[in-house]
Amino acid sequence: MVAETQLSRDMFIYPYFVVPGTNVKHAIASLPGIHHFSIDKLLEDVGIGLTFGVNKIMLFGVGEEKSLDAHTAYDKNGLIPKAIKALRQAFGDDLYIVTDVCVCSYTTHGHCGILEHDYVQNDATVDVIVKMSLAHAEAGADMLAPSDMMDGRIRAIRDGLDEAGYVNVTIMSHATKFASSYYGPFREAADCAPGKGDRKAYQMDFRNPREALREAFLDENEGADILMIKPALAYLDIINRIKEESNLPLACYNVSGEFAMIKAAAEKGWIDEQKIVMETMYAFARAGAQVITTYHIRDMVEQKWL
Ligand code: PBG
Ligand code: ZN
Repeated sequence: MVAETQLSRDMFIYPYFVVPGTNVKHAIASLPGIHHFSIDKLLEDVGIGLTFGVNKIMLFGVGEEKSLDAHTAYDKNGLIPKAIKALRQAFGDDLYIVTDVCVCSYTTHGHCGILEHDYVQNDATVDVIVKMSLAHAEAGADMLAPSDMMDGRIRAIRDGLDEAGYVNVTIMSHATKFASSYYGPFREAADCAPGKGDRKAYQMDFRNPREALREAFLDENEGADILMIKPALAYLDIINRIKEESNLPLACYNVSGEFAMIKAAAEKGWIDEQKIVMETMYAFARAGAQVITTYHIRDMVEQKWL
């Protein structure tokens, strides 16, 4: 009764990696319990999750044809629009569908943007990000989660949605996404590791909390509905500071490397997985996150930790 921090199943978003084809359910080695799903198998798994109250999911597309202009990322008949439509048809409004908006799984070089002379071009990338957002909105996505980190993208997406009449689509901005080594397992899962270079030109420097706040407030002013901080565990101070200075709902992304560390240590019998996972989730909520994106949520509900 007097616990100052509470968790509920409503707060969680479960990420999915969607691949082309049918009858595909492939385990991802670095993310135990997480799979690559073709759309048919995705429907089955989401259906199971729903029976446990996992009713918010985030979709990542993997395995589409890669190119320099990332055109498969904004194809209206592409993998993610197809997945959104199939999910909506199967589950109606019982399911809240969030999509990742970024091109790194769709570019030959694996960067989160369009390159010229080896550099990511901010404005050319924003144009593509807007097209991708519109393709997802048209297919019926409830919420877009742009993770590319280009400047000005939130305003551009918002304007694009407004002009096309998608006035009810929510934008959850990766407002503060640090250039982090905690994304390692994800890059394997999403096949999006940059071939050369790193993401430090567009993601944030983890030494700079003030810059992180500035970046978050830019997104707030550009029209974001929810601000997300990523990674989560090593950045509780950032979650807490943004919580104190912004009135927007706050989310965090408990990323692949954080998940993999717990899974690996638990597998060795060195930690108590249930206790560590729940302590970690309470820490996110205590710091100020109202929304938690995590690969752990299915274990939490299926094993009745929550
Ligand atoms: C790429 C993207 C990344 C993640 C989500 N979107 C990796 C990166 O920026 O290199 C990481 C998610 C995770 O580690 O779970 N746009
Ligand atoms: Zn990306």
